[in-house]
Amino acid sequence: MADEIFTDPRLAALYDPLEADRPDLDAYLRIAEQLDARTVLDIGCGTGVFALLLADRGLAVTGLDPAAASLAVARAKPGAEQVRWLHGDANTLPPLQVDLATMTANVAQAIVDPALWHTTLTRARAALRPGGHLVFETRNPARRDWESWTRANSHAVTDVSGIGEVESWVELIDVDGRLVTFRRHYVFTSSGEALTSDSTLRFREREEVEADLLTAGYRLREVRDAPDRPGKEFVFLAQRADH
Ligand SMILES: C[S@@+](CC[C@H](N)C(=O)[O-])C[C@H]1O[C@@H](n2cnc3c(N)ncnc32)[C@H](O)[C@@H]1O
Repeated sequence: MADEIFTDPRLAALYDPLEADRPDLDAYLRIAEQLDARTVLDIGCGTGVFALLLADRGLAVTGLDPAAASLAVARAKPGAEQVRWLHGDANTLPPLQVDLATMTANVAQAIVDPALWHTTLTRARAALRPGGHLVFETRNPARRDWESWTRANSHAVTDVSGIGEVESWVELIDVDGRLVTFRRHYVFTSSGEALTSDSTLRFREREEVEADLLTAGYRLREVRDAPDRPGKEFVFLAQRADH
């Protein structure tokens, strides 16, 4: 098992309380506004935070995620009935014609398998209307962010409504070329129960992503900085290329 933080209902319930501050989503909201997007596909929507922000602004949103436990959290939120939630990945996408597809919070890095990454880009393109855009971020490997993924840097105790105090931290497990594996730890203070979630992320170079986008039928419009994490992320804004 891996990625229990998304797939185990006991941990999926902790994702939002432990990531309560989401300044990262402001830049995505601004991009949706700048593009005047009315219809959005949020790939890897997780617990639906961004999908619901868009729906609240009157956009028609489809949220896609392979983790049923995260989607269950999303579906239970106020306003969830305004979003079309799809359980699956790019392979299972129905026909769509959206203005904008998004992958927030480094979803791109969670798609580790090269074939699935390529499929995700090509299926996302197929889900765009002609001229539609794809926007997503990925950490700049040169920053070697994983070197700061230590217990000392990440240890926190959070009071989670309805659950009680949860102690959490991350531990780096392995760095194997482009693949970085880390373990999230959770201890529920009231019961003493300890759960872990292992995840592997792929760190891609900017040039590699640019080439992947071209191959998948996009024109690269811009590579931006993430305003809340200056210098740490590449934010790719790509447009469906039609010839
Ligand atoms: C760090 S979370 C981000 C969730 C959400 N985008 C957010 O901003 O809170 C990464 C998400 O990517 C999802 N994911 C993993 N593999 C995926 C794939 N192949 N296609 C789509 N989503 C995937 C996970 O289930 C998880 O919900």
